[in-house]
Amino acid sequence: MTKKLWGGRFTGKTDPLMEEFNASIHFDRRLWAADIRGSQAYARALQRAGLLTEAECKAIVDGLEQVAQEWMHGQFVIHPEDEDIHTANERRLTELIGPTAGKLHTGRSRNDQVATDVRLWLLAEIEHLRRHLDQLIAVAVERAGDEIDLLMPGYTHLQPAQPVRWSHWLLSHAWAWQRDAQRLEEVAARTNVMPLGSGALAGNPFAIDRQALAEELGFADITRNSMDAVSDRDFIVEFLSWATLTMVHLSRFAEDLIIYSSREFGYVTLADAYSTGSSLMPQKKNPDALELLRGKSGRLGGHLAGLVMTLKGLPSTYNKDLQEDKEPLFDAVTNVSGALQIACGVLSTLQTNPAAMRAALSPEMLATDLADYLVRKGVPFREAHHVAGAAVQMAELQGAPLSQLTLEDLQKLHSAFDADVETVWSFEASVERRDVEGGTSRRAVLAQIAQLRAWLAARVDASA
Ligand code: ARG
Repeated sequence: MTKKLWGGRFTGKTDPLMEEFNASIHFDRRLWAADIRGSQAYARALQRAGLLTEAECKAIVDGLEQVAQEWMHGQFVIHPEDEDIHTANERRLTELIGPTAGKLHTGRSRNDQVATDVRLWLLAEIEHLRRHLDQLIAVAVERAGDEIDLLMPGYTHLQPAQPVRWSHWLLSHAWAWQRDAQRLEEVAARTNVMPLGSGALAGNPFAIDRQALAEELGFADITRNSMDAVSDRDFIVEFLSWATLTMVHLSRFAEDLIIYSSREFGYVTLADAYSTGSSLMPQKKNPDALELLRGKSGRLGGHLAGLVMTLKGLPSTYNKDLQEDKEPLFDAVTNVSGALQIACGVLSTLQTNPAAMRAALSPEMLATDLADYLVRKGVPFREAHHVAGAAVQMAELQGAPLSQLTLEDLQKLHSAFDADVETVWSFEASVERRDVEGGTSRRAVLAQIAQLRAWLAARVDASA
């Protein structure tokens, strides 16, 4: 019979089904590197506290290095009794260096160990996510600069509303991603706190220098209450919330592009690299990449809701329910990471079709500008709005575009109309009039580009 690390007081065998039900190694193996790093640092802390000789510490640290090599080269053999990554690594260490391995877990519990491992692992993943997000924002900003001249319809309720710059639309998503980047920093700050040294729940009974341990592991701070430390999964909830919102942003971006790439709109053409064909209909080119961005956002929301349900009502400190934190977390990281990179790929390779955007602009989208014209002549906006509405109706009755109404027609509706009403019928002029900070004029959009560029540059400097 195989020996369990916690087997001392147990006499009966574990039901094999229970063994399988209890095991987390098939997913938490993903933590192998963090687990080894944490253990190596812990061994050094034990040595500093006088619980390991220098030779014992070296044996453990070197042995763990060898275990790491096995994981790295795909040579680590998982045994049936390896319940989780922590037991697996310790079992292997014991095989490699003998009974000295048994000293590693002195004063430590898997409760503070797993909480530490997950934080270490997540912090490294957040670094990657941050880069993917920056890359996506950078592509949006560069395209916005290159394609500043393109005008397209802006929509509310998905109804053509007012002309905007394509770049303004693009940056509307970039700003959401920038907030995602800021939020991710906040999640990282609360993840960057070390629980190790909290023991099972009551704290470490040996004089471990937790501050030094945290410094060695690169944590910014240590947890202040051992009972909270082994229980706290807030950082995972926050991460899943971040991931969900980020995916919602990607999903909305994707939905816009799905619409814009449809034959009826045709504003953009997706690169073949991110589209697929139909197995039946030869003419089809489907925006699968974008549909997956949209589809996966639902899955992320599910993970967030699921973990919150798991946590609700748990008694203090560690309960095995907490093992359920990992699969949603891992899946979230995998999928958001993929989604950010795919979004970046789609955006950097899609082709814009300026003619289709231009053709979709219609004079009716300048009805607000017509009202604004009257406002500039001193007509109260409410009245001007009414007059412009009557003009739209008149044009509709004539079966002609709004811009084709004659000055006489317009003057029938309001005496303030003059020959200079001609100036209203320019999409460029309409866009340029929205010159307020945050507006769609060239100057205002260029200002956004400059702001985001400066923000990105400061981030690169900060992480260098
Ligand atoms: N695999 C466990 C988890 O992920 C590690 C902690 C186990 N602790 C315990 N007291 N059984 O939560």
